Amino acid sequence: MTSRHPIDLWDDEAATFDEAADHGLRDPAVRAVWRDLLLSVLPPTPARIADLGCGTGTLTLLLAAEGYDVDGVDFSPEMVRLAREKPPAAGVTFTQADADDPPLEPGAYDVVLCRHVLWAMPDPAATLRRWIGLLEPGGRLVLVEGNWSTGAGLTAARTVELVESTGREAELTMLPEAAYWGREIDDERYVVVSRG
Ligand SMILES: C[S@@+](CC[C@H](N)C(=O)[O-])C[C@H]1O[C@@H](n2cnc3c(N)ncnc32)[C@H](O)[C@@H]1O
Repeated sequence: MTSRHPIDLWDDEAATFDEAADHGLRDPAVRAVWRDLLLSVLPPTPARIADLGCGTGTLTLLLAAEGYDVDGVDFSPEMVRLAREKPPAAGVTFTQADADDPPLEPGAYDVVLCRHVLWAMPDPAATLRRWIGLLEPGGRLVLVEGNWSTGAGLTAARTVELVESTGREAELTMLPEAAYWGREIDDERYVVVSRG
């Protein structure tokens, strides 16, 4: 039996990806809590954000609407195609590429944001070191991750450990509220912010 490449698996997810409440943020109430959460951990505008594993560009475009310059990177052609089909926003680019070693300008970003992507990297510690290389001095990491009931993901403790292993501080906030997910959850979901 041959296993399929992750790009093909994510391509298959793309058409229905935005149907999940936290993915498409189609419910204004769900969109509002994500907006508030992100604005509470981001520096003020103007600021340049790398949104790594940006999927259909939901967060990329949400933050562009708030005045940030955002470069989204995703390796799935279908995800990127859907992101580009959404109403465009000033200051946004979408690049189809591997977020493990993103083809972005080193030292040029105020923020590296990833939601639900670090867990999928083969060597998350090495990935994090490359992502930190994208940051300007004083730049911050915003990592929204989970240890999902599906068995996939990273525990909060592991993500904190990964960030601290780079010599940076990590600030953990758990996100158990149904408001973020459009339903009650019983697994571990959180954001780790590292302010550099
Ligand atoms: C769970 S989705 C999250 C999408 C988006 N960050 C969001 O929160 O709406 C994971 C995304 O990461 C992308 N991805 C996974 N591994 C990747 C890699 N090595 N390089 C680029 N994108 C990757 C997938 O194609 C998919 O779009």
